[in-house]
Order: sequence, then C-alpha cells, then structure tokens
Amino acid sequence: MSPVQAIPSDVESLVLELQSHPVNTNEFFRTFESRKLRHQQLRAFIGQYHYFCFHFVKVLEGLLYHTPIHEMEMRTELAKTLYSELGSGSPDRVHIRQLERFASVIGLRQQDLQCTVPIPEVTTYLDTLRRLYLDSGHLTALGAALAVETTAASEFKYFVPGLERYEQFQPGELEFFTLHLAEEQHHGNWLVEAVRKTARSEDDLQHVAVGARETADAWLAFWAGIHRMVFDANPTDSHE
Ligand SMILES: [Fe+2]
Repeated sequence: MSPVQAIPSDVESLVLELQSHPVNTNEFFRTFESRKLRHQQLRAFIGQYHYFCFHFVKVLEGLLYHTPIHEMEMRTELAKTLYSELGSGSPDRVHIRQLERFASVIGLRQQDLQCTVPIPEVTTYLDTLRRLYLDSGHLTALGAALAVETTAASEFKYFVPGLERYEQFQPGELEFFTLHLAEEQHHGNWLVEAVRKTARSEDDLQHVAVGARETADAWLAFWAGIHRMVFDANPTDSHE
C-alpha cells in the first residue's frame, strides 16, 4: 500500500486509505467495464472468480470460530456478514448459488466449476487470507476482513456496467452482481463497526492496519493474475 506504514488515527482514516488503494481501480476492472470479453474469456474469469468466492466463505467461517470468545461485537458483526453470504437463511439466495446461476447462463455447469484449477494468484490470495484470518491474531484478522469487505464494493461498480453491455443477459441473470452493489456496502459498514468496538488502543489499531494493508496488496495481486489469465491466455481477436 502506501510507502509510509503510519498508524491510522482512527478506523475512518484506515477505510479512506483502503478506498484509495489501487486495487479499487485496477486494470482488470477497467478493461472489464470498457469492453466486452470474448465468450471464452468471460468463462475463464467466472471459473476463477467462482473458485475464490466458493472457498472464501469457508475461510470466513474459520475466522468466526477463531475470534476470541469475549470479543462479542466482532463475532456479531462477522456473523452478520456470514449470514448474508449464506443467503440470510434462504438456501436459494446463498451468494455462491447466485453466481452459479450466472455461470450456467454462460455455459459453465456445476461439473465444469468443480473442475476449475485455480491459477497461482488465486491460490496465493486464498492462502494469504487463511493465514491472516486464522493464524495472525484476531486484530490482524479483523483488519484483513475490513479490507476484504471495504474493497469488495469496487469490483461491482465495474462489473455491473460491464455486463450490461452484453445484449444476451436478462437483468435477472445479473442478480449476483447487482445485489452486491448494495450488499458490500453493508458488509463494509459492519466491519467498520467491528473495528470500532474491538480495537481499543492505538496499538490495537496498528495490528488492524497491518492485516488490512497486506490484504489490499494481496487482492491487487489476485486481479493482476486474473488479468493475465483472461487476456494473455485467451487473447482478444484483432477484429473485436
Ligand atoms: Fe457475497
């Protein structure tokens, strides 16, 4: 992130720092919004993205389990985020199922998704989140979760207008993406609340910042990998 790893004065300034991180405007997002991908490129992207989203929720479950028993506010806010990811009590609205419905529209069946081999950048990012969420202390983990949920809002601001360029998609088929435009704002707000109530000193906030900054940098590397895989391995034809 920034070359100077200063202690943020409060959670709001850390959120502003995360919102201005280059991951929010990375090259893959900008390209996705500005031009239609070839069918194979879109399938390659969704395969990797699905792999990440599918495994991420399990890591989030692990974080909830690893959160200390007395950190009631942190547990509460994480539980809200997890409940939302899992469809708020409705199996049909589990977010990964919504993404799988979109995947089926572009010809990716359940068995295709199960055969996805993650690119190294996807594996590395999941490994980074596992380490930060499960093995780095609850304040660093909380910072990582804050970064995940704060920066997650950005991708949908590019993906939704990008996908609306494709005439073949009905509005209902983009539900996963349109829903997340609002949903990620809620998740971000819940995590801010969790930090506010859990980080009780400057030292605590520094641990939160360490997790947040590493995560935002790792998320940028994830998207650089997606860009490489989608456009280098599946080059766009010159006439497109
Ligand atoms: Fe989600």
